[in-house]
Amino acid sequence: MIVVGLIAGWLAGPIWKHKHPIGVRGVLVQVYAPPHAFGAAPLPIADGNAMTPIIETKDLRRNFRKTRAVDGLSLSIESGELFGLVGPDGAGKTTTLRLLAGLLQIGEGEASVLGFDLREKAESVKPHIGYMAQQFSLYGELSVMENLQFFAELFDVASKDMAERAECLLTFAGLTEFKERRAVNLSGGMQKKLALACTLIHEPDILLLDEPTTGVDPISRREFWSILTQLHLRGTTILVSTPYMDEADRCSRVGLMYEGRLIECDSPRRIREKLDGEVIVIQPEDWQQALKTVAGADGVREAQTYGESIHLLVDSGKRRLPEIEQSLHRARLKYRSIRIAPARMEEAFISLIRKQEA
Ligand SMILES: Nc1ncnc2c1ncn2[C@@H]1O[C@H](COP(=O)(O)OP(=O)(O)OP(=O)(O)O)[C@@H](O)[C@H]1O
Ligand SMILES: [Mg+2]
Repeated sequence: MIVVGLIAGWLAGPIWKHKHPIGVRGVLVQVYAPPHAFGAAPLPIADGNAMTPIIETKDLRRNFRKTRAVDGLSLSIESGELFGLVGPDGAGKTTTLRLLAGLLQIGEGEASVLGFDLREKAESVKPHIGYMAQQFSLYGELSVMENLQFFAELFDVASKDMAERAECLLTFAGLTEFKERRAVNLSGGMQKKLALACTLIHEPDILLLDEPTTGVDPISRREFWSILTQLHLRGTTILVSTPYMDEADRCSRVGLMYEGRLIECDSPRRIREKLDGEVIVIQPEDWQQALKTVAGADGVREAQTYGESIHLLVDSGKRRLPEIEQSLHRARLKYRSIRIAPARMEEAFISLIRKQEA
């Protein structure tokens, strides 16, 4: 069953007066109606030719008791970027996104979205943002269309716009033929697409998506990303956290978070190029024995297995490849192939994280 709650729970702010209790599967959910006025219009983000970042943080900090969830984060994202946030569990990605969505109070430092200072104008930012939480929720007993209608009302979308936008989003998300189906009966991938459609119903300028495809099969992930790519091409600014390196590779820029800080931020290509060393890929017949033999060899900095192939990060591919071949021969271990391969994002990130841990 879908967990019942609020995809846009972040919208619940103290200035909202009207609560609408909704019972779904015996669970009482309180929904807050959005305010009609959110304050001043957003500040212009372009100043002549010099672009002002649409999202900017300086030395941003947020603790939870003694845990430093975000610890001096300085981040700058320009309008229209598709920015990927990656990092190990607990690195502070969700906390960062919640801070930027105006859901959490800033501890120290500065953060602005669309020119609004989040310390003072978090409410003004909310109508311009579509936030999809890591544990997003839909209303399981409501149909696909009813979920869209619900979020349209939550975001004060005029009823004359609602029908057209809903049809458009259903087509966009490939959900038209399922519009009468209850959300609880959709597949996991379809639920994610519906959640994204609900996040888009108020036509936000900025999307903050927290691991939107985690747990979804590769085909649905690809479909979801083709929707994100289309949004990116239309100029929507997207900040997306992901545990998947192939998704990070599809971003225009990627930031690697580690212990609340941004330890790397660049285009995927440049991040791969920064990898200190080269990668040797071996396809052994007995990968377990082969791994034992080569993992500790001279010049090997990292050894990872992918299925039955072994990826070694070495100081010099040209120098170490014949040495590794020799050690496999000496141990009488056969292999189907051995080659120097281009580095992948995963290798680059693991290497960067190991450096931090060292
Ligand atoms: N509400 C909270 N109360 C207490 N600690 C919290 C809270 N939210 C986050 N934390 C802690 O802050 C740190 C950062 O958590 P956060 O959820 O931002 O990481 P993350 O990068 O999103 O991790 P994951 O990849 O597992 O989703 C963790 O140590 C976490 O336990
Ligand atoms: Mg998270």
